[in-house]
Amino acid sequence: MNPQVKSFHDPATATFTHVVYDRDGGHAAVIDPVLDYDPASARVTTASADRVLAFVAGRGLALDWVLETHAHADHLTAAAHIKRKTGARTGIGRGITRVQERFKALFGLEPEFPTDGSQFDRLFDDGDTFAIGGLQVRVLATPGHTDDSLTYLVGDAAFVGDTVFAPDTGTARADFPGGDAGKLYRSIRKLFELPEDTRLFLCHDYPPEGRGERAEIPAGEQRRGNVHVGGDAAEDEFVRMRTARDATLPAPKLILPALQVNIRAGELPPADDNGIRYLRLPLNQLGGAR
Ligand SMILES: [Fe+2]
Repeated sequence: MNPQVKSFHDPATATFTHVVYDRDGGHAAVIDPVLDYDPASARVTTASADRVLAFVAGRGLALDWVLETHAHADHLTAAAHIKRKTGARTGIGRGITRVQERFKALFGLEPEFPTDGSQFDRLFDDGDTFAIGGLQVRVLATPGHTDDSLTYLVGDAAFVGDTVFAPDTGTARADFPGGDAGKLYRSIRKLFELPEDTRLFLCHDYPPEGRGERAEIPAGEQRRGNVHVGGDAAEDEFVRMRTARDATLPAPKLILPALQVNIRAGELPPADDNGIRYLRLPLNQLGGAR
């Protein structure tokens, strides 16, 4: 059974949030929801997530899952907010435990911060299956951009996270801790084995001047025309190109707030004795090699 999909675009972070559902009045999952964050004031708001929730309510959908394709570095996740509002269960790849270990150390988090993924309701492994109402979901490990990156396959739809970008922009960076350009190439090639008309739903699009955002691309179009990995692009060439390019990229604007919240499944850090919650900024740790 093929799903219905409604995609939402957040212009502030260029992120797509997808609602995948079996039928009006049926069951749904939200994939990669955005928690709005204003870096100047450090204020967190929920307008983007509430728009998604309004759609879910409008279609009479029971929200079963809030799914993450990976621990994002460019936006904060609204998973905790959506879970509180709907009771949906949260899920992410089991590789989140490694991300939690790395970033617990970098941020100097409270000793009791668990790095076993227990902030999420379910940790997925390659090949796992689960249901969204009448839809069957298969989990495909697609590491490379990060080592916890997953693709959720639902009928003719695949939610690929940052595993691949639109054909004319190619691929995401692979230089975050745990990233690996060779693995990214092999993960994308795995996606290219899906049927030609599989709809690959992206987590981001950064279109060149004059082209509108595209939330979904057919697998066949990617296989033939992706500028980084399409056609007969070889792995070693891709790794050289990706590595050279990543060395020129600045740290994503929201990486420090995003990771701190995303490894907590979207919960904010615990409050200090004065009742105020704080994010931490490790000085001189990121961006040094640029
Ligand atoms: Fe990402």
